[in-house]
Amino acid sequence: MLAPVLIVSLPTVGDKGAFPRYRGSVKIHVAHHPLIAHKLTVLRDENTNSPTFRQLVEELVMLLAYEATRKVKTVTIKIRTPVAETSGSVLAKPRPVVVPILRAGLGMLEGMTRLIPTAEVGFLGMVRDEKTLQASTYANRLPEDLTGRQCYILDPMLATGGTLIAAINYLIERGAQDITAITILAAPEGIKNVEDAFASSIFPITIVTGAMDEKLNEHGYIVPGLGDAGDRLYGVV
Ligand code: URA
Repeated sequence: MLAPVLIVSLPTVGDKGAFPRYRGSVKIHVAHHPLIAHKLTVLRDENTNSPTFRQLVEELVMLLAYEATRKVKTVTIKIRTPVAETSGSVLAKPRPVVVPILRAGLGMLEGMTRLIPTAEVGFLGMVRDEKTLQASTYANRLPEDLTGRQCYILDPMLATGGTLIAAINYLIERGAQDITAITILAAPEGIKNVEDAFASSIFPITIVTGAMDEKLNEHGYIVPGLGDAGDRLYGVV
């Protein structure tokens, strides 16, 4: 008779402390799921090619979005099944707004819109200066008024947090009061910067990430990370 096999899930680089954690108005949720850990490991591998990388990002976003949309607004409606009348819930209007940060956030859009096909999509073009690591906005295509809209920012790498802080402030200036960011990887330094920036915000901000990595290196890259997400998604241009 074969001996039973015990499968043990070993801690990954994402296993750091207790999550979800709350500081002020900021909630951080680090995913703990063996499928996410598996996909992240293949994603990180420098030998993974762009088509596989894009496919994995799409799949990871769907898994992370499942958690990130836990509080998406719904309304109760009555329907008739072939058997009986019943009630159920559907997404409320106005629909959620998904905001990929160009360029790398675009790679996350397909997975998110598969999960919420009726979401509106706005774009925010942000670039960080590789020397100062400061983020600035170079393009935006967003509704003027985001009052009452649930906003989901997509940006694969939460490194210094500069881009995410700028993006959140941008959405708040337009009236958003319910903001969730979905990232594939995060660095502790960036998480702390976001927590500090919005410690006294009156609006709740949630970050859902696939893993909390070890640190940033001197070039602002996440370690161990996955390299430059934009380059790995679309090739070096
Ligand atoms: N942006 C990336 O694409 N990778 C990092 O590691 C940090 C920021």
